Amino acid sequence: MLTSAFIIKFKLNFAYRAKISYYFHIFAAVSGSNKSVMRETVILDKKFREMITSEAISKRIEEMAAEINRDYKGKDVIFLGILNGAFLFAADLFKKIDLKARITFVKLASYQGTRSTGSVKELIGWNEDIKGLEVIVLEDIVDTGHTLDLIIGELKVRKVAGVKIATLLFKPDAYKKNFPVDYVGFRIPNDFVVGYGLDYDGYGRNLPSVYTLVK
Ligand code: IMP
Ligand code: MG
Repeated sequence: MLTSAFIIKFKLNFAYRAKISYYFHIFAAVSGSNKSVMRETVILDKKFREMITSEAISKRIEEMAAEINRDYKGKDVIFLGILNGAFLFAADLFKKIDLKARITFVKLASYQGTRSTGSVKELIGWNEDIKGLEVIVLEDIVDTGHTLDLIIGELKVRKVAGVKIATLLFKPDAYKKNFPVDYVGFRIPNDFVVGYGLDYDGYGRNLPSVYTLVK
């Protein structure tokens, strides 16, 4: 009799504690004190969910830089950042480069809203004489590859010694070209993303992580 009362009391006690712990975890998740909480953000009329954390981006950029440092050891390299989207990626990657390196930027605007127009509208800022140089193009994202096509065409006209492409994000399912994308940070599905330099109608570039559109 005494034993069964004890067991019941023990069971109730356990259930009570489990419940407290359960509610604590829900509270932690909702209040944001739990690191695994899924982050969402609203930009203009659309909702986005965190897909690649800033920590994962930093780690991957370090790996990409190490690879480039290895491949171009002893060479004089010029990095060509494509504005606006690649400005954060270019800055973070360039800090990790230990080659004899320079960096310059050109601007290409081809995107409006959440769908690529497929046609490049603007190309400005070819200040540097890059003839005979080893060029590494820095892109935020390679989608259809139209932008890259145009840049590579321009670089050929300018008679560079060699071209390689480094991009933070790559959408293989959207890619329509054949030339290789040499250094890829993350391969992602063919969905619209923002953050870490990428925008939705000009907004969202300042987000430290990459977010994907919630449909
Ligand atoms: P592409 O010419 O179709 O390869 O597109 C390249 C450019 O479109 C990138 O440099 C970006 O500026 C933009 N872009 C492509 N996909 C996205 C996206 O998912 N979010 C934001 N911008 C994008
Ligand atoms: Mg871009």
